[in-house]
Amino acid sequence: MSTDSPAISLDAQITAVSAEIDAATLTNAEEAEAFRIRFLGRKSGAVTDLFGRMKEVPGDQRKEMGQRLNSLKQQAQTRLDTAQNELAGSPKSTASDIDLTLPGRVPAPLEPGTLHVLTQTLHTIQNIFQGFGFSVAYGPEIEDDWYNFTALNFPPEHPARDMQDTFFIESPSADNPGVVLRTHTSPVQIRVMEHEKPPIRVIAPGRVFRNEAISYKSYCLFHQVEGLVVDEGVTFADLKAMLHAFAQAFYGDDVRMRFRPSYFPFTEPSAEVDIWWVDESLPGGGRWMEVLGCGMVDPNVLENVGIDSERYTGYAFGMGVERQAMLRHDIPDIRLFYENDVRFLRQF
Ligand code: DAH
Repeated sequence: MSTDSPAISLDAQITAVSAEIDAATLTNAEEAEAFRIRFLGRKSGAVTDLFGRMKEVPGDQRKEMGQRLNSLKQQAQTRLDTAQNELAGSPKSTASDIDLTLPGRVPAPLEPGTLHVLTQTLHTIQNIFQGFGFSVAYGPEIEDDWYNFTALNFPPEHPARDMQDTFFIESPSADNPGVVLRTHTSPVQIRVMEHEKPPIRVIAPGRVFRNEAISYKSYCLFHQVEGLVVDEGVTFADLKAMLHAFAQAFYGDDVRMRFRPSYFPFTEPSAEVDIWWVDESLPGGGRWMEVLGCGMVDPNVLENVGIDSERYTGYAFGMGVERQAMLRHDIPDIRLFYENDVRFLRQF
């Protein structure tokens, strides 16, 4: 048999096509279709073409060549079938193949979220006061001058207005006393007393805003919980007892607290309360942290909302929520609450 006989060259071509079939890449539907046309296409597929050359094969070699061609065709068909089965099971399958009722496949276990530590602290404070019989009231974050200042006995031009570095929405002018981001939750006292008659026993949690120098203990935005009790015969002793009971419920029975005389236009007398923050790295073993202002509601405030100040007295307080959370959880810097660093948030 000469080397260029048709059977030999057909034999060599079968070997070449077989190698090509093995080497083909079949990673998506387009490649699979191109493979089918290239090797198994009815008109010009490589395997089909080789079958067409069988007539050149001498009779004694036909049987063997026929078998080799059949197994070549089988080889191509098997590769194509395998690839198509794999592709059908992959995510690129058509929409109708997707079973929406299957549980989701996720790369890592889902982590459940938690409430922000400030929200948790607010809930704790609220729960304690609700246990003492207080109800909860809310007021707007944008207030006009009357609610934020004037009704609270800050007369116009009074220097006490400078105690609170105010963000103005509308600056004061001759015909507009001004609109502000509330600098405290005390305006909610006015809103409550406008609508309710004594006895009143309410807290008002919320966000407040101050254009202050930012530091480890002061931020331009923070939270307060306001408290207001108005009834016949309410005294400063009631205020002290209530705040002491709160501090013990919130910090534990061994809490160290002190009342310092202070000044607020809307209370007389007024005080501030400090809580001892244990820190062994400091010379005295800790430091006092101011957490709230309080006092007996000034009679002028009661008269501003039409409550008879001869018959009724009241006490009020306003506490900073961030500072209480700092003390309770030993958080060294108020700015941490607002950075949303998950390494911080995850700890609570
Ligand atoms: N509103 C005051 C502040 O933000 C805190 C305060 C002091 C609230 C005395 C009160 C109060 O209700 O009686 O600085």
